[in-house]
Amino acid sequence: PKLIVTTREGDTSEIDVADGLTVMEAIRDNGFDELLALCGGCCSCATCHVHVDAAFSDKLPPMTEDEDDLLESTDHRKATSRLSCQIPFAPELDGLKVTIAPED
Ligand code: FES
Repeated sequence: PKLIVTTREGDTSEIDVADGLTVMEAIRDNGFDELLALCGGCCSCATCHVHVDAAFSDKLPPMTEDEDDLLESTDHRKATSRLSCQIPFAPELDGLKVTIAPED
């Protein structure tokens, strides 16, 4: 399955996602250093913040309270904000478009 990533500079690229990875891991493993993901996916840093194409909102796993709280602590939260480490990539997310959120 494919994931389409737009960087903070507005460059868009398509990457292949291996089974079992989260969106954060897929982005990081493809060399997008600007997605810091400092906590390594433990839902405690918010440096894996992305804005997700609204067309996919219904297909994403529900947000936990922890994720919601962390996003609330960021400066660039939008209705489409998610922490990418909290999105396991699944077949129905093929073609998912995410934009790396501005740095806090
Ligand atoms: Fe830290 Fe996602 S990597 S919250």
